[in-house]
Amino acid sequence: MQHETVQEYYGETLQGSSDLQTNACCTPDAIPDYLKKILGKIHDEVLSRYYGCGLVAPEALEGLKVLDLGSGSGRDVYALSALVGEDGFVTGVDMTDAQLDVARAHMDYHAEAFGYAKPNTAFVKGTIEDLGALGFEDNSFDLIVSNCVINLALDKEAVLSEAYRILKPGGEMYFSDVYADRRVPGSLREDPVLYGECLSGALYRNDFIALSKKVGFGDPRMVDTRVLTVENPQIEAKLGNIGFTSETWRLFKLNNLDANPEDYGQAVIYNGGLEHMAQVFVLDEDKQFEAGKCVPVCGNTARTLGQSRFAQYFDFIGTFCRHYGAFEPGAKTDAPRTQAATEPAAGGSCC
Ligand SMILES: C[S@@+](CC[C@H](N)C(=O)[O-])C[C@H]1O[C@@H](n2cnc3c(N)ncnc32)[C@H](O)[C@@H]1O
Repeated sequence: MQHETVQEYYGETLQGSSDLQTNACCTPDAIPDYLKKILGKIHDEVLSRYYGCGLVAPEALEGLKVLDLGSGSGRDVYALSALVGEDGFVTGVDMTDAQLDVARAHMDYHAEAFGYAKPNTAFVKGTIEDLGALGFEDNSFDLIVSNCVINLALDKEAVLSEAYRILKPGGEMYFSDVYADRRVPGSLREDPVLYGECLSGALYRNDFIALSKKVGFGDPRMVDTRVLTVENPQIEAKLGNIGFTSETWRLFKLNNLDANPEDYGQAVIYNGGLEHMAQVFVLDEDKQFEAGKCVPVCGNTARTLGQSRFAQYFDFIGTFCRHYGAFEPGAKTDAPRTQAATEPAAGGSCC
């Protein structure tokens, strides 16, 4: 597969969302009301060339500097431009001129729609495997999003490692993409339709997790998953039994993570301060925090919340001074253990 083949698919073969031959690139209906209102202000031409497969609008975006990898016609860039506010900024990168042309044509329109004096968006032509060539510096973005694009990248490791490089410490990559339930045979990756439809370039999920950890994202967290159905019989026949899902993941750039969830006797209390999440903050598919409730957490979750932009919304109880073994969610915390907790590791510096 080559970049030119993908550019041709998104620049010429597809003229709009309805040309897609599977439902791989369609977003489900569960869009929160506040986001529906924002999407309602987005230009029809931008919406008509939306090819995403999930929602890439996490919480606490005010004032952030955001990068969208494979921004297409700009739907997510514009939605995020409303959410970051006039002091934030959203840049989209894409390699296909036809997509960039649509996106760039509506910058002033959206600035006006959101009541801004000037656009807080930019669209840059380039490949997401080589963000250095676009001048993006180390530790320079608060948030990176991407919607149904990394499966199309020819070098996924380069994309993830570049994302890690340009994120600020504590920054987050929050993205939706297609995953396969097994490694897709190389022969299918040469089929321009299977590849262009976001299927045969998809990573096997375990390989994605290993790759994320390899480049430095030590604790990948899944937010959401949905099974994709291929309704075109010819495409289905070529794919055989390979199953596909559309998944949203969040990868934080953090220090000192453990390889596994470990128990340091810590807990957190969510203060309910996040907009649109006054009752419950959802970190990932397993971890939800009800406002005011003290929730035991492993060291990695404590570090994720404590080192990221979410720190201000939590009270943190406990330290990393003592290790109590593997973290077991739901384990009783009030019964005394038969053995004393492990003493701080030699050379540990937290106390
Ligand atoms: C499935 S569309 C998704 C577009 C957009 N994120 C959306 O949700 O509508 C994939 C987009 O990624 C772009 N793309 C694919 N591979 C790329 C790469 N390696 N570098 C930059 N852009 C790429 C294509 O040009 C296309 O616009």
